[in-house]
Amino acid sequence: MRGDTLKILVLHGPNLNLLGRREPFVYGSATLAQINGMLSDLAAELGVEVTCRQSNHEGELIDLLQNTADTDAVVINPGAYTHTSLALRDAIVAVGIPAIEVHLSNIYAREDFRGKSVIAPVASGQISGLGVTGYLLALRAAVSLAGS
Ligand code: DQA
Repeated sequence: MRGDTLKILVLHGPNLNLLGRREPFVYGSATLAQINGMLSDLAAELGVEVTCRQSNHEGELIDLLQNTADTDAVVINPGAYTHTSLALRDAIVAVGIPAIEVHLSNIYAREDFRGKSVIAPVASGQISGLGVTGYLLALRAAVSLAGS
């Protein structure tokens, strides 16, 4: 059951475990641990609970989404699954809680194939190109949507 304290799940998709050393000129120099630390600090400031998980596997991301009975909203960076995964999209619809899609890079300013998100039509909103700030704004948005 959902309690008084809002619970937000942050899901990081494939290859985001390599942040910090993965194409830093595209994705920035912050590591995933540093990003999760900033999200935890902001969650404490906002008085909400945040759980951060990363997986390189589509099915595991879907399992994590399905396991959200106690979760009020999701912040998700689906990585390259953004552009391909109808299964991830269906899972977001199936669980029926607000989902904010985040991308560190501006997916519309890169290769053509990145300009199509199959997730965006079922997300509450999308933030793209703002780096780590995008995750922090997405957490604020998730809290706002879940609390309204
Ligand atoms: C990304 C953009 C995707 O196109 C890419 O496959 C990623 C990261 C981003 O955060 O900018 O893995 O989601």
